[in-house]
Formats: sequence, structure tokens, C-alpha cells
Amino acid sequence: MTPLHPQLNAFRQRFDLSGFWEFCFDPGDRGRERRYAEGLIAARAEGRRPIAVPGSYNDQFEAGRDYLGPVWYERRFDLPWGFRGQRLFVRFGSVNYHATVWLNGALLGEHEGGHLPFAFEITDRAASEQNVLVVRVEGELRPDRVPPGNVPEGPLDSFSNLPYPAGSFDFFPYAGIQRSVLLFTLPEAAILDVTFTTRLEGAAAVACVVVETDAAAGDVRARLCGFDAEVSAQSSLAGGRAALEMRVPDARRWAAGEPNLYSLHVELLRGEAVVDRVTLEVGLRTVAVEGDALLVNGEPVYLRGFGRHEDFPIAGRALPPPVVIKDYAMLRWLGANSFRTTHYPYSEEMMDLADRLGFLVIDETPAVGLFFAPAGLEERGAACRQFTEELIRRDKNHPSVIAWSLANEPHSRRPEAAPFFRALVDLARELDPSRPVTLVSYMGEPEEAFDFCDFVCLNRYNGWYTEAGRIDEGVSRLSNELDRVHRRFQKPIVLSEFGADAVPGLHGEPPELFTEEYQAELITAFVRMLRDKPYVVGEHVWNLCDFKTGQAIHRVGGINYKGVLTRDRRPKQAARALRELWSK
Ligand code: GCU
Repeated sequence: MTPLHPQLNAFRQRFDLSGFWEFCFDPGDRGRERRYAEGLIAARAEGRRPIAVPGSYNDQFEAGRDYLGPVWYERRFDLPWGFRGQRLFVRFGSVNYHATVWLNGALLGEHEGGHLPFAFEITDRAASEQNVLVVRVEGELRPDRVPPGNVPEGPLDSFSNLPYPAGSFDFFPYAGIQRSVLLFTLPEAAILDVTFTTRLEGAAAVACVVVETDAAAGDVRARLCGFDAEVSAQSSLAGGRAALEMRVPDARRWAAGEPNLYSLHVELLRGEAVVDRVTLEVGLRTVAVEGDALLVNGEPVYLRGFGRHEDFPIAGRALPPPVVIKDYAMLRWLGANSFRTTHYPYSEEMMDLADRLGFLVIDETPAVGLFFAPAGLEERGAACRQFTEELIRRDKNHPSVIAWSLANEPHSRRPEAAPFFRALVDLARELDPSRPVTLVSYMGEPEEAFDFCDFVCLNRYNGWYTEAGRIDEGVSRLSNELDRVHRRFQKPIVLSEFGADAVPGLHGEPPELFTEEYQAELITAFVRMLRDKPYVVGEHVWNLCDFKTGQAIHRVGGINYKGVLTRDRRPKQAARALRELWSK
């Protein structure tokens, strides 16, 4: 499968199957024996109804909110004009958690894990008309999955009050077909992957392009266009591969404040004829860690921003496009320049906009809540390796992505944790030597793995989960801890989460827990303390917006109220305080 997002051009076609599909719950897991794979309509599936795709199913119906067992989707389609005689594929942007896919009753395959794309070739299975695409999805929470759930007492050591549904993480386990489903074609010989990196040489830049094709022979040409200039290079294929370099004399670098993008056209040639082309919007920039600094284009950067969620009422994990735009507008309004994709890869559209708008992104895998008890450790390790590989293959060409985060808050007390992460960090570096690698640790969890990360990310809730009601004491403790962690690891530190719940409209003087005043004061005190720490290279407030969680006694109405914006994106007092702080 090619990791490149399907393109529409003179050589390739694309057709979006978004819309209203057939859907049914399958609580008895009877769908297989009832031959739902041949079509829900044909099989007269019980309780069949229309559903919106993309969209989590949990909030679209009254009955299904907490149901994570098997469900079935069906979409009928005729082959669009121009698709006939081509190599045909179907691609899912994200299905959470496990998908099994049939076309016209024939099994295409399965995929495990949400938030990352997968595709199947359907050239020999698609008919001209009345194709029946069927997907069985199940989102069960299991200890051997990533993220884990329904973990029996004990192995987590330090995670007691499991929510309902029982994820070992603090967000609702939305499930279903949560991003677009695309039909696409490839020409007979095709470009399968492109890897773009940059070397800076003074005012110039060298654009490095590695191209993978399935062509037996031929040439590859790369053209980099932008700012009234064009540079190009051409090379013969060897084993289907080619590596090209182009020197851009007066390069317009990509940076957060100036997100200059170039169009990279990669063409596959047979003789003089172009037989395939892919176009990517790329940025000329480098990222590195040197001493206590995080550098973009050799210049120190400071990350101001948030942890977030792809979360919205009814749509669940499928963020509607107007909300994506609104979130970027609010990030700009707040004065943010950065975010971490907590706690899973975000949509490809979201990442493209980060490139266009100039945000610095720590791109995170779905590995939240990992634990290292022997039961299921093999499976969790395999899933983490798969997701790390799928994430890097998908997002490696985004200039906005400045680092990979391989886990959020692993329960790392056990000795198995360090070798687990050593292997994962090595994999990430092998797949992408051009970016720093990190992971994120929680209060009280030891993290030896920071020894082999490039920088340290800490989630700290002093003044909330500890020193509750005593902001000054919490800030003072954290200040000392940051100095200790820095002395121990001698690396830059991002305070990757801090904050407090604030129920919108709840006020108090003097401020107290859950009031907007308390949240604003805590965040302000943390930001001011960080200004005295030269080795701190970023502050990400938790969270940009209030978001849905499982039910728990500390989550009123199943909502985490740590957003500085409400769930429908209205600013709380803390938002105005941050806007003021970050404007200076
Ligand atoms: C953790 C975790 C978040 C969670 C937050 C909280 O640090 O990373 O996912 O929402 O704490 O408890 O609010």
C-alpha cells in the first residue's frame, strides 16, 4: 500500500465515499454467520439504519454510546467514470479500533489500530456497477491493545480509578469509521512513496528527495517550484528507487512565523513521456536539539501551545472541517505556535493546515497508558512498532512536524519499560533520522527512557492532583523538580501538560478548584515560573478545549473541563489570561 495520500491529477483519480452508509450494531456477533459480509441490505441485517461517515457512531444514536462490540457498515457504489481499466484501491483514513473489509463478498483484509490510514487493492474485485463495500468494526478495550483498556487491577501499579468504558486513558473511546474513505487509482507504473528532507547551506538549501516506485525501469524527475523560481533534477531508477538533490539558491525557509511552502512535483518518466506524478507541498527547514535548545533552521524556538483532542459533540472523533478551521483560528487568537497530537495521530487535513499556517507539531502515536506487565506485552510492543512505522510513513514530509512522541504517560515502573522504549526510539530514528524523538512522562512515573530521547516532555499537575488549592506551593515544588530532572538528563524540557479543570461560568473569590479564576491563576503562575528556566523549550497547556471522557467520579457529565475553551470553543478566563501572557 502506498502511504501517499490519494491524489487527483492527469494520471490519478480519487473518489470520496463519504456520506450516509448503512449501519447496524451486532451485539451477538452474529454478522459473520448471517453473511453480513455480502451486504447488510442483502442479508436483511437487524436494526439496519443510515449513519454518517466519517463519524464516530457512539453519539449518533441513543443506544450505542457505550457499546464497543462489533458493528457493520455498508456502502454501495458504481465505479466512477475513468476508473475502469485502472489499478483500483480503497483507503480508510482511520477506523477505530479493528476493521475487517469485504468487497462484493470477498475478504480484502483487516487492520488493527485507529487514527492511521490503510488501503486494499480492489482491481480484480471491483465491478463496474453495484459494488458492495462492507466493513466490520469493533472497538473493544483490551489489555493487549494500544491504547490498553479493561486492565485488571495490579499491572498498572498506579492507575486505579478506571472510567467507564474502562480505558487506561482519559478520553472517550469513540469508535467507527472516523475519517474519509477514498477510492483511488494508480497508473500501471506508479510512484509509491516520496521522502523529502532539507539541508541548509547558508542562504541556500538543498532539497533531498528519495522516490520509491514499482516501475521496472525508467527515470524520475523532481521539480521544486515556488516564489517565482523552479529547480529540478532527474535520475534513472535503480531497483525502483532514485535519490535526487536540488539546490535552492535563495531559499525561502519554512518556520512557524513564516510557513513558506514549495510545490514538489515528482514525475515518473518512460523515455520522454510522464506516466505518473505526485505533488506535495513541502517546506525547506531543519530541526535539531543542541545543548538545552530546540532549533528550527538553527534558531532556538519556544513552543507555546496545547495538548488537544479531535473531539466534538455528536461527531465524536471525526472533527468537522469548520471545527478544524475554528481550532486553528483560536490557536492563533491565543498566540499559540505549537501543539502535540495528543493522544493519537490527527487527520491528514489537520496536518496539512499546520504546514500552511505554520504550527510546530509534536506528532504522537496512539500509545497512551502503556504498561509493562508480561501479560500482553508482546502484543502491545508489536502494536507500538506498527503504529510508529505507520505514523512516520504518513507524516514524514510535513514541515510542521518537528518531533515524534512515542508514548504518553507510560506506567514505566517495571524494568521492561526501558528496553521497550530503547527499541522504539531506535526504530523511529531509523525510519526518520531528520527529527528528534521524545516521549511524555507523568507525575511520579520514573522515565529512564529519557536517557535515549532527544528531549524530555513532562506532564505535571502540581496545584491540581497534588497541592490542590495551593498554587504557590505547587509551582514551587514543580520548579525544584524541573531543575532536578534537568540536572539528571541534561536535555531540553517541554512542560507538555499542566492546567486545571474549570467548569464554564463557575466563579469564586478567592479562587478555588473548578472555578475559572483558579484555572487562570494556576496557568499564569506556571507560565511565569517557566520564564526563569532557560532549559525549558516549551509550554503546552492541557487542554485547548473541554472534551468527552468516560464516566468517572472526577469527570462531571463525562467531560474533562481542563480546556481553556469550552467544548464548543468559547474562551474561558484562562484563555484571555494566556492570550495576554503570550502576546508579550
Ligand atoms: C494526563 C493525561 C491526559 C489527561 C490529563 C488529566 O496527564 O495525559 O490525557 O486528560 O492528565 O487528567 O486531565
